[in-house]
Amino acid sequence: MLQANAWPEDGSFDLSLRPRRLGEFIGQEKLKSKLQIYIQAAQQRSEALDHVLLYGPPGLGKTTLAHIIASEMGSTIHVTSGPAIERAGDLVGILTNLEPGSVLFIDEIHRLNRLVEEVLYPAMEDRKVDLMIGKGPAARSIRLDLPHFTVVGATTRKGLLTGPLRDRFGIDEHFAYYEPEALTEIVSRSAGILGYAIDPTGAGEIARRSRGTPRIANRLLRRVRDFAQIDGATVITASAADRALATLEVDAVGLDRIDRLLLRLMIERFGGGPVGLDTLAAITGEDVGTIEDVVEPYLMQLGFLQRTPRGRVVGRMAYGHLGIAPPPTAESAGGLFDLSSDTPSDPGAS
Ligand SMILES: Nc1ncnc2c1ncn2[C@@H]1O[C@H](COP(=O)(O)OP(=O)(O)OP(=O)(O)O)[C@@H](O)[C@H]1O
Ligand SMILES: [Mg+2]
Repeated sequence: MLQANAWPEDGSFDLSLRPRRLGEFIGQEKLKSKLQIYIQAAQQRSEALDHVLLYGPPGLGKTTLAHIIASEMGSTIHVTSGPAIERAGDLVGILTNLEPGSVLFIDEIHRLNRLVEEVLYPAMEDRKVDLMIGKGPAARSIRLDLPHFTVVGATTRKGLLTGPLRDRFGIDEHFAYYEPEALTEIVSRSAGILGYAIDPTGAGEIARRSRGTPRIANRLLRRVRDFAQIDGATVITASAADRALATLEVDAVGLDRIDRLLLRLMIERFGGGPVGLDTLAAITGEDVGTIEDVVEPYLMQLGFLQRTPRGRVVGRMAYGHLGIAPPPTAESAGGLFDLSSDTPSDPGAS
C-alpha cells in the first residue's frame, strides 16, 4: 500500500528533493513563520534555539525541517533516534560530544526508554549530565556541564511521550496535512528537479491524490513519470497523471486499495462499526502501527472514519464515496429503534 513511512528504495531520491532552507520549504505557513521568528531571535541573542518538538503523521517533513533548523541556525546536526539509543551511556556519549550551539535531532523520540530519558531531562533543562567513573564500591558520579544545544525531537505519536519529556520542549509544533495548493507546488518543484515537464493540471492531479503528504506526492510523481515516459508523453498532464494513478489504484481523494478494503469490510462485516483497532489490523493484514499512524489519520481527516470509545466507526461521508447506501439515521427511522443493536458489531471492540 502507499504507506507514508518506509521507502528505502527512495532514499537518495528523497534526499535530492529535500528542501535545504526555510525559504524552499513549501506549505506549513504558520509553523514556518513562527520558527523564523524563534530562529532570528535566538540568533540575535547569540543563543541556541530552545528545544523543539515536531509531531504529526509520517512523510510531512519533520526530518526535513529538523535539518533546515540546523542549517538556518548555522549549526551542526547530530542525528539519532529513540530506538537507536539503547543505554543511558549511549546518550551520555552523544551529549558529551556536542559542540556549542549544535542541534541534536532525535527521531521517533517517543521510543526512548525510560533510563535514557532520565539522562535527557537534566541535559535539556540544566545542561548537565552525570557521568559514572570507576566500578564497584569505588564508583562515583561526576556532574559535567554541557554546551548550549538544541534538541529537536520528532514523533508521529505525541501521546506516547511522557509528560516530563513533553514539558521540556519550549517549542512544540504540529504538522498538519498539506493543502492541495502547497502540494501542487511541491510536485512542480520536484518535477523540475527530476527534469520532467509537468503542467499545473498534472501537478494538481497528483497533489489531490497524495493524502496531503509530500512524501507520497513525490512517490506518485515518480510513478506517473514512469508511465508518461513509456507512453512517450513529454509533459505530464492531468490525463496522463490520472491514467497512471488509476493503474496504481489511487482514487480521486487519494485512497488506495487498503483504505477502501478497510472501509468496505467495516461496513459489510460490522455494520460500519464500532470495530477495534486489532480487528482492523487483522482484516486488512496491516500492522496496528500502520493503521494508527498512516491509514486512520487521513481517513479521519476526510470524515470517513471516527474514533469512539468503543472502537472505530465508518463516517457517513465514506458511504457516498464507496457508492454504498448509508444506514438510516435514528431520526429518519423515527428515533424509535436503536439501529446499532441490529447490526453485528466487533466483539473485540474497545
Ligand atoms: N514542505 C516541503 N516542501 C517540499 N518537500 C517536502 C516538504 N516536506 C517534505 N518534503 C518531501 O517529503 C519527503 C518526506 O519528508 P520527511 O522525511 O522530512 O518526513 P517526516 O515527517 O520526517 O516523515 P517520518 O515521520 O516518516 O520520518 C522529503 O524527503 C521531502 O522530499
Ligand atoms: Mg522523518
